[in-house]
Order: sequence, then C-alpha cells, then structure tokens
Amino acid sequence: MSKLMEWVDARFPATKMWNEHLAEYYAPKNFNFWYFFGSLALVVLVIQIVSGIFLTMHYKPDGAMAFASVEYIMRDVPYGWLIRYIHSTGATALFAVVYLHMFRGLIYGSYKNPRELIWLFGMFIYLALMAEAFMGYLLPWGQMSYWGAQVIISLFSAIPVIGDDLTLWIRGDFVISDATLNRFFALHVIALPFVLVFLVIAHILALHEVGSNNPDGVEIKKNKDENGIPRDGIPFHPYYSVKDIVGVVVFLFFFATIVFYFPDGGGYFLEHANFIASDPLKTPEHIAPVWYFTPFYAILRAVPDKLMGVGAMGAAILVLFFLPWIDRCKVKSIRYRSTLYKANIAMLVISFVVLGWLAMQAVTETITLLSQVFSILYFAFFVVLYFTSKNEKTKPVPDRVT
Ligand code: HEM
Repeated sequence: MSKLMEWVDARFPATKMWNEHLAEYYAPKNFNFWYFFGSLALVVLVIQIVSGIFLTMHYKPDGAMAFASVEYIMRDVPYGWLIRYIHSTGATALFAVVYLHMFRGLIYGSYKNPRELIWLFGMFIYLALMAEAFMGYLLPWGQMSYWGAQVIISLFSAIPVIGDDLTLWIRGDFVISDATLNRFFALHVIALPFVLVFLVIAHILALHEVGSNNPDGVEIKKNKDENGIPRDGIPFHPYYSVKDIVGVVVFLFFFATIVFYFPDGGGYFLEHANFIASDPLKTPEHIAPVWYFTPFYAILRAVPDKLMGVGAMGAAILVLFFLPWIDRCKVKSIRYRSTLYKANIAMLVISFVVLGWLAMQAVTETITLLSQVFSILYFAFFVVLYFTSKNEKTKPVPDRVT
C-alpha cells in the first residue's frame, strides 16, 4: 500500500490534499450541534445528484410524456417510487439543512472578517439552489409545476422595456410549453448541478484558507503552540469526521421516516395539485410555491405594484449578501452580544417563519396587511443591525474557546 501511495504521490498530490483538508486541518474543539449542517448539506447534495441520475434514466422531458413518465417511475420501474421520493424529500431536506446552516453563520458571526468570501460563496450557492429547485419543480409537469412556473416567469414581464421580450426568451414560447420544459430539464440536470458543485468546492477552499469560526467566535489561529498548531484546534480527521457521521446517521433516521411514511409532507413537500397533469386551460384555485420559497413569495404579494413587489422580493434576498458589511460589531458570537441584538435576531426568525406561513394562505385583506407588517419587520432587522452594531455594548470575549 505504501509503495502504491508513493507512486501516486509522485504524480498527484493525494496525501498532500488529505493532510491539508482532513488529517491536518485543525478545527476548533468546541463545535456544537449547529456545526453538523455543513457536512449534512454536502451529504444531501450528493443524495440529490445520485438519485437525480437514476430518475433521469426513466424520465421523459417532453410535454406529451413527462407527467406519464413520472407515473411510470412511481408504479412500474422497480423501486422507482423510492428513488423519486428520495429526490423530492431531498429537495426539502437540502433547504431545511441549508437554512439551519445559514442561521448558524448568522448567530456566530461566521460571515465576518476574514470569512466574508465563505459567506458570499454560500449566498451564490443559495441562489443556485433556488434556481435548481424551481426548474426541477416544472419537470413532473403537474398543475402546480405548470402554474407555479407561469406565475414566477411572468414576473419578469414587470421589468420595464425588456420585460416582455425577456419573458418570451426564458419560456422559449408564448406560454409555458414543451420548449420551456426541455430547457429547464437541461439546466436542472446539467448546468446548475455543475455550478453548484463548483461553488461548494470554492466555499470549502475559502473556509480551509482562513479556518473555521466556532460558537465563541474566537480565532484559534491567534494562539498556536511551538509546532505552529492552534492550541484550541483538533485534527478534523478523525475527530470531526467521526462526529459528523453521528449527525448523518441521526439525519438519515428522520429522512427515511419522511421518505417511507410521509413523502408528500401533507401537501407541503409535494403539493396535492401536482398529482393532476398540467392543464393550460385550467388554473388551480390557490397557486403557492413549496415551503422553502414562501417567505419571499409573501414579500412579493405584500406589495400591490408588480414591479415594486419583484423589487422588494429581490431586495429581501440581495440584502443577505451584504450582511458582512451591515453588521459592524467587532464581536462575532451571539454569546457575547447585546440583548438588543438577540431581540433583533428573534424578530428576524419570527418574521421569516410568519411570512412563510402567510404566503400559503389565500389572499384576503388581513393576510395582505399582515404580510406588509412582517415584510417591514424582516427589513427592519438589517436597518436596526446597521445602526446599532457599531457601538454595541458587548460582553468580554474570552482569549481561548470555552
Ligand atoms: C449546498 C450547500 C452548502 C454546502 C454543501 C455547504 C458546506 C459547508 C461546509 C462543509 C462547511 C464546513 C462545516 C461547517 O462549518 O458546518 C461550511 C461552512 C460555512 N458555510 Fe456552508 N455550505 C452550503 C451552503 C451555505 C450557505 C447558503 C451559506 C450562507 C449564505 C453558507 C455559509 C457558510 C459559512 C459562513 C461557513 C463557515 C462557518 C464557520 O466557520 O463558523 N453555506 N459550509
């Protein structure tokens, strides 16, 4: 074995990469529950790619055959139902895990100097994930696939001057049609997975360049022993590789429970209207996106003007890119930050969840009013953070991790 490794290492940096990224990557020893979600996101991304490859073997990206080919996968292909439910549950799981992963970054200030690029790569991953999920949702070619895409693509027509031409160009037709299905298939199975994998590699390379943050927000590289090893660091492998496997096993337990017993998630993971074949002549009663898009959809619906609504929805996502510069506090972790900051974070979480719920309700005056109030509260988080973080009264941060 060692002779073989010597042969490989003379031609390819296998051992060097193993050491740099695993065996000699020193991670803070105080990682907690919140640090499971990065490796889990990686696991679910792989699950999606592998199950997607198998789905593609039987799926037909053709307006006349797509819906029936999904039914064929569910009923006739051996274990086709399992592969499809793994993929549809995986979409929900990936967003759940990524939202928790982003929240960890938020509360421990992991987006701050020197980790701004890790955060920015993360935000581009998030955008690509949204595009990936949106295009994937058209493929089963059910009623919600069709009308959901209709609503979202027609938003582009609100853009002045180029709006109508742009919408036509995206759809490839005057309505959502076979041409739209075909291009969404190409983007969903090839282009976006490629972009996602590239971005995830960049995300992890950036992380390994500066080193991980931790629940105390202490820079472990500032306190090294005589061998240049951080005193508060432990090698990622075997310590965290083993710990992360525990997280994966617990996750798979929940994942399998949904796949086998609750695959449609009561209509939240697979919407009921999507079990009916798409019909361009019949609009479903309520058109609502899947849960992971709903907070932003609520902001869109809260604004009466179409263009302004699209602008507000775009701003709600865009503002997250600027978080490293909006938060001007030197202290990273929530553990040592002010009560006002904690209350502000609580307000963000509440407004995000309530907005998500509001978008699933049929439009009434009260729902619109509530959507407006909670949209304002969502944006208020960033305004309050910008103006209060610079001179925030923080607690003393320890020199070493606790
Ligand atoms: C498919 C999606 C993603 C994958 C596979 C992924 C993977 C990872 C991994 C493996 C880590 C190191 C382990 C850990 O700290 O938990 C990490 C760290 C990090 N990720 Fe992600 N990530 C994804 C999406 C995102 C998104 C959307 C954001 C934010 C916009 C983000 C922000 C961060 C930050 C700030 C860190 C450093 C955390 C720290 O050191 O405290 N990631 N990511």
